[in-house]
Amino acid sequence: MKIIFLNPQGNFDRDDSYLTEHPDFGGQLVYVKEVALALARLGVSVDVVTRRIDDPDWPGFEQTLDDFGLLADCVRIVRLDCGGPGFLAKEALWPHLPRFAEAIVDFYREQMPHFATTHYADGGYLGALLQAHAGIGFTFTGHSLGAQKLDKLGASVENFEEIDARFRFSQRIAAERLSMQRSASIVTSTEDERRQQYAHPLYHGAIDPADDNRFRVIPPGINTDIFNQDAASDPRQWLEKLRAAIRLPDRPHIVVSSRLDAKKNVAGVVTAYIGCSELQQSAGLALFVRGVDDPWTELDQLKTDEQRVLGPILERIDAAGLRDRVSFINARSQRELAAAYRLFARQGSVFALPSLFEPFGLAPIEAAACGLAVVATCNGGPVEIFADGAGLLMDPEDPEDMARALRRGLVEHQTLAEAGIKRVLSTYTWDRTAQSYLDLIEHNLATGSEAAPPALPELDASALIYRHLAALDSKAP
Ligand code: F6P
Repeated sequence: MKIIFLNPQGNFDRDDSYLTEHPDFGGQLVYVKEVALALARLGVSVDVVTRRIDDPDWPGFEQTLDDFGLLADCVRIVRLDCGGPGFLAKEALWPHLPRFAEAIVDFYREQMPHFATTHYADGGYLGALLQAHAGIGFTFTGHSLGAQKLDKLGASVENFEEIDARFRFSQRIAAERLSMQRSASIVTSTEDERRQQYAHPLYHGAIDPADDNRFRVIPPGINTDIFNQDAASDPRQWLEKLRAAIRLPDRPHIVVSSRLDAKKNVAGVVTAYIGCSELQQSAGLALFVRGVDDPWTELDQLKTDEQRVLGPILERIDAAGLRDRVSFINARSQRELAAAYRLFARQGSVFALPSLFEPFGLAPIEAAACGLAVVATCNGGPVEIFADGAGLLMDPEDPEDMARALRRGLVEHQTLAEAGIKRVLSTYTWDRTAQSYLDLIEHNLATGSEAAPPALPELDASALIYRHLAALDSKAP
């Protein structure tokens, strides 16, 4: 069986060189790569289809055919031309996706794949286009839905035009609705994602979150070869560098390893730390910032958006006189990250995920697998992942609640760490994820309809979004 993964945004290379350096190079790429490789271990032939990029600022994506350096006989990266040679952010892809679908049909002219899995709104739209051209069925995995992001950005009738010019919600929401309607099944990572996120008014009429036939909850996994408690082969040089970077070597730490993106709310955890002297006494703060060893002197080497997030954080730490309690860690690979987690775990540290909203939450699962106790946002996936004592939850918009949960995490770290590892190993492995995808795909292939889908509508949900925002305005006090 041949399965293709449609993932237009970001890109893939053997070394995951750009992971977390740009919003389009986030957890979704890890997810797609790991599920593809795990499906190959089950004997399936897989192509990960993405854009060909020939851009001096983004080297490594020029070849049409490539692989991950693993299971290369079974898993290919297929890069096809779409929208010119330069790197394009996902918001700029929409007008080019119809041409991308044609390029896919051309590429597979001899032998069409049997089924597609599609990722994010842009992948889902591509799936609907491909279905219209070639009759291939697809699953839709949203990863992060536009409606929730629109809410978090505080959109209103007044500011929507400006927000839309940057984030293209008119296209994204329309693409999500189409993906929900046309896909054979929708894959969510948690029950909560299905019942809460898909119930958003902007998806009414496109999907019914109560319809069991349309959804399959398939939790993602983590790479247990990398994220585990075995420190035996941790690179000595890296551990030395790490120890030198840690300002309070004898204390446990509050460990934060989120992208420097406002919605990840790293500032929130810093505020909680600054506001709580008890926390400052019992633990240091360790902030993972990829790309620079010393943000105090190298801030200008980060991307502008990252500087905008980190700059004010540095100012606040400085103003509170807490420079000597905050360590910055520059882990350049997943192996370095895991080794650092293990070192912090040995100190009885707590991993904090302070996101305002987190669709799933792979990072805290990886941290838990390395032995860290987890304290995560109460908004989104972590609610389910860390239920029943596998971790603690905190309100990311309430610094006092955050400080309280972090203090408790430090006290109970041993029990939490044990419960966290048990949860991870029983539920979150990629082999389990891939087997569930395969079962779902086989089910869909066996029961799929042959009927041609209706013509694709124009990709524009702006009228729907304005109606929704106007209704919200009229309810506001
Ligand atoms: O990598 C995780 C992810 O959800 C991707 O799917 C997406 O590109 C990125 O984060 C940003 O999502 P959003 O556009 O909702 O901010």
